[in-house]
Amino acid sequence: MKTVVCENYEEVCNHAADIFVRQLKDKPDSVLGLATGSTPIGLYDELTRRYEAGEIDFSKARSFNLDEYYPIDPSHPQSYDYFMRQHLFNKINLEKFNIPNGAASDPAAECTRYDMLIDAAGGIDLMLLGIGINGHIGFNEPAVSYPTGTYKVDLTESSIEANSRFFGPDEHQPVTALTMGIGHIFKSKKIVLIISGASKAEIAKKLFEGVIHTDVPACLLLLHPDVTVIIDKAANKGE
Ligand code: GLP
Repeated sequence: MKTVVCENYEEVCNHAADIFVRQLKDKPDSVLGLATGSTPIGLYDELTRRYEAGEIDFSKARSFNLDEYYPIDPSHPQSYDYFMRQHLFNKINLEKFNIPNGAASDPAAECTRYDMLIDAAGGIDLMLLGIGINGHIGFNEPAVSYPTGTYKVDLTESSIEANSRFFGPDEHQPVTALTMGIGHIFKSKKIVLIISGASKAEIAKKLFEGVIHTDVPACLLLLHPDVTVIIDKAANKGE
């Protein structure tokens, strides 16, 4: 695992954007794995800026998002579908994007459909990850076993609580989600994990111990041959 320690969040986003630019220069038809949460927002802004400056072209690329709440309508302002359109897809020339359908009537069938799409695309070339304060990646929550394919997951209290800040007091917050399993994440050729802010210092410290804590899903990344962690000083306090 390669670690890049940045001065601040802006530098994290710039560094991650450089990796996306290089990836699409080397392989314009790359398959990108994309994440939600507040951490990637600055990166998506930077990618938009670079797209507008003519420095990156997404026209031949395609993408698969990690996860989506379930059930949720894609038009709901808190859906990850809405988030991705708002922060990235409406602003760049990426036409072929995929997100699990939070409104599917049969979640198991939707997971199978999503797996087939990822496999048909040849798997993911560059996977962007954030990390939950409990160590989740995508919505692979701490557990004793981890499905390899896309699956419906019960969110933990910690994740529900952490994400409640996005929901208004009268808005229903889903307690389940559809998430890419560990298998698709692991088959990604390259993984970039971005970590920012003091609230992530404790979990980052755990990750950097170099020990596979099986109840910390992000620790499984220690086994992948090409992971770059880009972290700011605020999150790297626990060194
Ligand atoms: C969300 C997403 C994850 C994300 C994580 C951290 O629930 N499912 O993909 O990495 O939580 O989010 P944030 O960046 O807002 O801390």
